[in-house]
Amino acid sequence: RVIPAVVAVDGPAAAGKTTTCLALAQRFGLSYLESGRTYRIIALEALRRRVSTSDRQEIVILCDDLIRESRDQDLLTSGRYGNEDLRSPAVNVAVSDVARIGEVRERVTHLVRLWAAGQERCIVEGRDIGTVVFPEALVKFYLSASAEVRARRRVDQERRGSYEDVLKDVIRRDEADMSRTVSPLVPADDAINIDTTSLTLKEVLGRMSSACAAVTLP
Ligand code: CDP
Ligand code: CDP
Repeated sequence: RVIPAVVAVDGPAAAGKTTTCLALAQRFGLSYLESGRTYRIIALEALRRRVSTSDRQEIVILCDDLIRESRDQDLLTSGRYGNEDLRSPAVNVAVSDVARIGEVRERVTHLVRLWAAGQERCIVEGRDIGTVVFPEALVKFYLSASAEVRARRRVDQERRGSYEDVLKDVIRRDEADMSRTVSPLVPADDAINIDTTSLTLKEVLGRMSSACAAVTLP
């Protein structure tokens, strides 16, 4: 397959992936993809169509239905789904179940690779981008921060739910993402690790920009 020039950004919830990716995409002229969005769309559709997220077989069938129904890789980039729905507390719970299923991950991985093959250069965020989806990525980042700081950021950002509830969800999702058997959330061996707990966005972006500038993006 064609190997595109990829910058991979992984890490737990509210570590700063989306914000930094958008800024780097603009600075370096990269197409941007948020892979978590696809897992969220599958979870949201499962809830809407009343497919139990613990029924692996049914979820895989739903996933194939969605891929069939979606034209132009709708599942990846569709504006049909709003953040309000995709980031609801119910989806936050359901998405962990969906993301645990190996057959679902294979399908999403395939879609992401297909999308990237059509880009000259791109930046992709998720949980397994540097480890599984693009092990050959030109630059890999692993962003992290304490759960407390990340929960505080998410509350300030979304203004939805109490700090206590958001913290519980962040910790639960960390645990689910890091402990699943297929493609768990771990830093790639060659990832640049940035603990952003006591860094400003500007400082994080400074480090990431330097690393991106150091590689020649073809
Ligand atoms: O924005 P936030 O970090 O809270 O979440 P997200 O990136 O939208 O991802 C939502 C969920 O999708 C994660 O908690 C993972 O369970 C799953 N995910 C995954 O398993 N692999 C990816 N490459 C991206 C997301
Ligand atoms: O994509 P991910 O879930 O990793 O995080 P995000 O949505 O990019 O960031 C969550 C919030 O934390 C945003 O409102 C950022 O502005 C804020 N933030 C940050 O990302 N990094 C810092 N060092 C400080 C704040």
